[in-house]
Amino acid sequence: MPPQRKKFNVPYLGFGIGLRPVHYKDLLENPLSVDWLEIISENFLLEGGRSLYYLDAFCEQYQLVPHGVSLSIGSANPLEETYLTKLKKLITKTKSPWFSDHLCWSNYKGKSYHNLMPLPYTDAIIDYVSQRIRMVQDFMEKPFLLENVSSYVEFTDSTMPEWEFLVRIAEKADCGLLLDINNIYVSSRNHGFDPLAYLNAIPPERVIQYHIAGHDDKGSYVLDSHDHPVRDEVWELYAKAIPLFGNTSLMIERDDHIPPLPDLLKELEYAKKIHQDVTR
Ligand SMILES: [Fe+2]
Repeated sequence: MPPQRKKFNVPYLGFGIGLRPVHYKDLLENPLSVDWLEIISENFLLEGGRSLYYLDAFCEQYQLVPHGVSLSIGSANPLEETYLTKLKKLITKTKSPWFSDHLCWSNYKGKSYHNLMPLPYTDAIIDYVSQRIRMVQDFMEKPFLLENVSSYVEFTDSTMPEWEFLVRIAEKADCGLLLDINNIYVSSRNHGFDPLAYLNAIPPERVIQYHIAGHDDKGSYVLDSHDHPVRDEVWELYAKAIPLFGNTSLMIERDDHIPPLPDLLKELEYAKKIHQDVTR
């Protein structure tokens, strides 16, 4: 049997998708179509706009989980108090059991680069990032999940593999992990490591959520594009993750060429079928 015990006493949410404006109407009219929805936090931190207009309706019908893209936990900048205060309000409003962001840096000296850039895998960065995660997690009073990013370059300063870096930060910060299975696959191809070695190094009790997504295979490298259906190689890696991590809430990320809701739900059904087949 796969290990089922998770840290932080968080619920298993099942199978979800990312909430995107093109699906607002369909999801509100068919509230039973997915178990839960992940929302991009920043879209709901604005003073107004379409997303905020719909927030109450979605809160009533779905479990929403905020997922951020601009915390920039690895940045040299101080953490942004205004951002954190707004995010805490959103986490409270959605009654979310956790919140998440990426192991990366994306801003420097007030300039946002709109990219999730990797860090050097060193002891000093482990100390720095884990201490910042502790501050954020304490402030939010909710479990924080750290997500592995896809990458295309590495630092010559790195002294360990990415998975050791990720795990040591999670343990030192005492936070959870959001494993992006597609990102593991993409980086394994770009850097030539074994994705199974990555999965085998991760402590199961910290893995609270998965991301699954499509990528663009350019042959000599792989681009984490989120604009294709999930590819077979990623489904295969997901199937190998299930016995390691047990029941772990999953969502499909699709950010470009977003298909009609029924098509995305077919992919979600496929994820459920793989889970059932592996755990049967
Ligand atoms: Fe992701």
